Amino acid sequence: MTILGIETSCDETAIAVLDINSPEDITVRANIVSSQIKLHAEFGGVVPNLAAREHVKNINHVFETALKTAGIIDFATEVDLIAVTHGPGLGPALLVGIAFAKTIAMIHKKPLIGVDHMRGHVYSNWLPDKNYELRITNYEKTFPILNLIVSGGHTELVLMNDYESFKLIGETMDDAVGEAFDKVARLLGLGYPGGPQISARAEIWKQEERSKKKGIEFPRPMIHSKDYNFSFSGLKTAVLYKIRDLKKEGVEITGDIINEIAHAFQEAATEVLIQKTIQAAREHGVSSILLSGGVSANTLLRNNLRTATEKAGLIFSCPPLAYTGDNAAMIALAGYFAYKETGSADPDASVRASWQSVDMQPNLGFRD
Ligand code: KG4
Ligand code: ZN
Repeated sequence: MTILGIETSCDETAIAVLDINSPEDITVRANIVSSQIKLHAEFGGVVPNLAAREHVKNINHVFETALKTAGIIDFATEVDLIAVTHGPGLGPALLVGIAFAKTIAMIHKKPLIGVDHMRGHVYSNWLPDKNYELRITNYEKTFPILNLIVSGGHTELVLMNDYESFKLIGETMDDAVGEAFDKVARLLGLGYPGGPQISARAEIWKQEERSKKKGIEFPRPMIHSKDYNFSFSGLKTAVLYKIRDLKKEGVEITGDIINEIAHAFQEAATEVLIQKTIQAAREHGVSSILLSGGVSANTLLRNNLRTATEKAGLIFSCPPLAYTGDNAAMIALAGYFAYKETGSADPDASVRASWQSVDMQPNLGFRD
């Protein structure tokens, strides 16, 4: 099956072409991502209407580039299915991708299926990449799976008994972990997106500045709660208060202090994620833990969750770095599974199969 995937839920305009015969036999023929990060950086976060305007500007070019890269000459005969992200995401941004997908589906008389963005992140663990080890290879033995999905809009623990069954068992009660990275970065005067900046600063502190230690530590919110929910808003506030208190004491917020705060925040956030994930994995008797979403690019989280998972005797997987952020290859793959599951190309069909409580497409979730 040749599937065209379209993703416009946030600040990446992405289109991919995949040949998928089975979960073990996937070829990514094109994976084009046009990022708007620079544009939104000056606002310190993604501005929904601006994102939508950029998607409108870029989508035709991204589409043409994807077809050219994949070597598609005759869309009508060479493409079997179109998959588009219908949510969750920024309303105006989602609408651009959905309207574009509906138009090409109509012109070329192709089946169209709407897919859940978070499922896409989960399936990114199956996407092939040269010489990449941590990807799933022993397909059937991997189930049951516990997914830790960490992005700018979501922090979720989702059980998966087979390719198409998902059960949400825990989520954040307030900010998503990526959102916390972004907000803490803003408090520290670092740029957007905050995740890569925080982790780079934390690394510098680990390598060079331990000697200048101020002994900064942050709480691990909800680490001992009996459920699998998370909370990151208080952690962000703790950073805010720490900066305020240091300033009150007359301490100048120098680069060294920023690095130490970044390090302490990253330690606290990742420790909560890892401890609760391992606890949930034990209680649910899963065979493997899969990490996904934009925050899965974080080296400390990847390394420490891998170590903890393997120590617990379970299989660990996280996507190749190229597929941690938003992309359309994962959407095409989600389209493949949704199409197989529903046996229908009704764009609303996979909404019913989603673990997100969405009623109608698109799901107009908003991020500040
Ligand atoms: O999945 P994603 O690309 O978009 C959403 O669906 O939200 O995730 C974006 C999030 C941002 O909050 C960004 O700061 C975070 O992923 N992120 C990271 C890292 N790289 C990206 N967070 C921590 N460490 C990183 N290295
Ligand atoms: Zn995402």
